Amino acid sequence: MTSTLVPPTTADKFRQAMSSFPSGVTIMTTTDVGGEPRGFAASSFCSVSLEPALVLVCLAKTAQCHDAFMVNDQWSIQMAGSAHVELIERFATKGADKFAGGEFVPDHRGVPVLLDAAVLIECEAYERHDGGDHTILIAKVREIDIDDRPPVLYFQRGFRHLDQIPLQGALS
Ligand SMILES: Cc1cc2nc3c(=O)[nH]c(=O)nc-3n(C[C@H](O)[C@H](O)[C@H](O)COP(=O)(O)O)c2cc1C
Repeated sequence: MTSTLVPPTTADKFRQAMSSFPSGVTIMTTTDVGGEPRGFAASSFCSVSLEPALVLVCLAKTAQCHDAFMVNDQWSIQMAGSAHVELIERFATKGADKFAGGEFVPDHRGVPVLLDAAVLIECEAYERHDGGDHTILIAKVREIDIDDRPPVLYFQRGFRHLDQIPLQGALS
């Protein structure tokens, strides 16, 4: 595929710039046509709309789990906590036995959910959009379970912990 970036903006520079935007990390899960659990680590999560309650995650079209998210409308999104660094690394590794650790259990829809997630969002497909080499998965939120665990942060390809970062200012 030929690059559409205008020199000197290379793919490496684009990746470096995007990694300089700190974010939380989510693990998005579903099941495939055979009922097998599927999922991936995602930092592209963001809020879209309040009424209706919508969120989005961008999924690479090359992901092995891409087909599962195109076929199954039932999804779950879990915000990872600071204890989940190893779990995130597993869910970011192609071909890994992602669910082998037993951290996930099937919910009432059969979708795997992470019980000790910082926040658990039960959701379903609202729209899927083409987004270049990614598919933009827009999810309608059905249920939310908020735990008091601090989320993990991702910045410049490394993980950081909120309790090591001083709080400065707060909006009401
Ligand atoms: C912190 C972090 C955030 C990531 N965010 C995304 C993302 O938003 N979208 C995406 O498609 N891949 C993202 N990835 C990469 C996928 O998790 C990884 O390629 C995964 O293995 C894809 O799923 P597959 O194993 O089914 O191919 C991220 C990886 C890490 C470590």
